[in-house]
Amino acid sequence: MEYDFDQVIERRGTDSMKWGAYAGDVLPMWVADMDFRSAEPIIRALHHRIDHGVFGYTQPTQTLRAALQDRLKRLYQWEIRQEEILFLTGLVSGLNIAYQAFAGPGDGILAQPPVYFHFLRDPVQHGRVLNDPPLARKGDTYEIDFEQFERAITGRTRIFILCNPHNPVGRVYTRMELEKIADICLRHRLIICSDEIHCDLVYAGRRHIPIATLAPEVADRTITLMAPSKTYNIAGLECGYAIIKNEDLRRTWKRTGYGIVPGVNIMGHVAALAALTEGQEWLDQVMAYLQGNRDFLDQYVHEHLPGIRMCRMEATYLAWLDCREAGIPGNPAEFFLKEARVGLNNGPDFGKGGEGFVRLNFACARKTLAAALDRMSAALHK
Ligand SMILES: Cc1ncc(COP(=O)(O)O)c(C=O)c1O
Repeated sequence: MEYDFDQVIERRGTDSMKWGAYAGDVLPMWVADMDFRSAEPIIRALHHRIDHGVFGYTQPTQTLRAALQDRLKRLYQWEIRQEEILFLTGLVSGLNIAYQAFAGPGDGILAQPPVYFHFLRDPVQHGRVLNDPPLARKGDTYEIDFEQFERAITGRTRIFILCNPHNPVGRVYTRMELEKIADICLRHRLIICSDEIHCDLVYAGRRHIPIATLAPEVADRTITLMAPSKTYNIAGLECGYAIIKNEDLRRTWKRTGYGIVPGVNIMGHVAALAALTEGQEWLDQVMAYLQGNRDFLDQYVHEHLPGIRMCRMEATYLAWLDCREAGIPGNPAEFFLKEARVGLNNGPDFGKGGEGFVRLNFACARKTLAAALDRMSAALHK
């Protein structure tokens, strides 16, 4: 079927985090979910389950595990066993299990800002020490400064948390980059916790490579976090998974999460299965639409937002905008909220290198995106 992503769906009054955070006249372009209806097979499967009317405890089925196995094999030639899949209600929980399972109080956690804030705040919240060599800005994109990366590792660093594709800079790391990362992590005996939640949202010309697929010895020290939540816009249904090949790591993971990590949500389970088995048609169409939005945004920024530069995007629907040359008085996110009534993510929340930047979520109808950009342009030209 053909999906209509131009349709504007009212989300105010639906307890949406994105739409409920600001006053009614603000266009919210921040938290990472889409304003689109999810795939019909997912909605159908949920209806079917609702109609059954009994919503007792649920366990992840072999069918769901098999669907994930098939997908990983098809996309990445990655063979995993069913017991290597550990279910989660969300990947932030997965990150926090990793911080506690594989690092003790005072141990170091390595991350590369600017990056998703749960990589930065949560380790510190748990009494771990953040080692945060920033990504290097190169023109309108970012690269890893491998010397700086390795220098940031201390005798107490235990985990590297990789964000691939990277939120917010939109990079999809190449095989060569991943190999260098893996080599450094293995030499320093770090655990790699690879958050690959955005792996399906990759634009033409790039290919996602799960770091665990590089070599068995890399897989042996890697926890891969994946989920259908961002891909199919089902984040509110809370279903994700950790893939852990190493049995000892798996045991430690389970022990840490015991009694804390709930089983899967019945609706999340149903939605995940439909997504993995019947979601491709929707995904192909949404990616084409998002690519159109990305290109529209890129051109708009270039033509109508003087002094702002958009980071080159290889993946995700989260644009990283450099406002440092735009002559904005004070903080750009506050400026656009006050003067344009557009709600953006505040750059400094992503750690080092975030000052003067904002993150803009363009997973919405093009009309909504255009309206937000017109407001931002008017505010800059006031
Ligand atoms: C890199 C990354 N990890 C995790 C999450 C959130 O995951 P969850 O909703 O499954 O906890 C996000 C959401 O934006 C993200 O960008």
